[in-house]
Amino acid sequence: MPQRIVVVGSANTDLVCLTGHLPQPGETVLGGRFVQAAGGKGANQAVAAQRLGAEVWFVARLGDDAYGDAALASYRLAGLHTDHITRDAKAPSGVALILVDAAGENVIVVAPGANETLRPDHVEHAESAFEEAAVVLLQLEVPLDTALAAAQLGRASGAQVMLNPAPMPADGLPAELLSCVDVLTPNTTEASRLVDLPDGADDEALAAALRGIGVPTVVLTRGARGALVVTADAHFAVTPPAVDAVDTTAAGDAFNGALAVALAENRPLLAATRRACAAGALAATRVGAQPSLPRLDELDRLCPM
Ligand code: RIB
Repeated sequence: MPQRIVVVGSANTDLVCLTGHLPQPGETVLGGRFVQAAGGKGANQAVAAQRLGAEVWFVARLGDDAYGDAALASYRLAGLHTDHITRDAKAPSGVALILVDAAGENVIVVAPGANETLRPDHVEHAESAFEEAAVVLLQLEVPLDTALAAAQLGRASGAQVMLNPAPMPADGLPAELLSCVDVLTPNTTEASRLVDLPDGADDEALAAALRGIGVPTVVLTRGARGALVVTADAHFAVTPPAVDAVDTTAAGDAFNGALAVALAENRPLLAATRRACAAGALAATRVGAQPSLPRLDELDRLCPM
């Protein structure tokens, strides 16, 4: 039987331009292909988990506009439970402007729009979805107090609470939020900001400092180098399968969605991390956020459970 995952997070439409190289400030670059695709860290992680076999409830906010209509239709098609997606009559749907270079690296600017009006009371109205949730999966493209309300509800309902702290707020994360988190999945930049170490700090030092803030399971994501996992009684690194990356957008979201599903299914942490790394690698082989998220059969082929 599929495990239930609740995702509280952002929904965007991604406007993507492929380019040979990323422009410097003040520079105009003639790029290549333009792609419009469904994105947003919350929606990406929700769709990733759904494709990998979970039953996913998505709590989000869209504008009352054409991007919002298209996003909602795509979530329904993907099989997400959408009862707790509300519309804002005044704010536009979230949009992300994304540039992807020839090496598959990206820069992203998000205009959050209606994501900013996802409030704690929307989470409270979705309380019934949290009952029987195995995992509550959160990111930070929605207001911090909304993420906190979701983490507290997840903790109270007995779910594992996973936080992908992206983007990391300039002044870090409140202890109140961290105290409700079971699994924290920062990348190295987010981790450095969270524990106040310089960019480029050693990964082991980062993971140790993160454990020092009291989160039971730290999964430090390291892009093509995979992930470093530290808990009270485990410490290991996982390297992803080698792939030809064309666009790393949403590779982290595929990682988080896959990790959430494996944890919801009670898989051992090592197997869950291998699966997450493989899902991230697969997502990097295709252009766009949600179009690139792997399906269960291809993930099973690359990384059998
Ligand atoms: O993680 C990738 C996502 O970040 C994109 O889909 C974009 O919408 C931004 O939210």
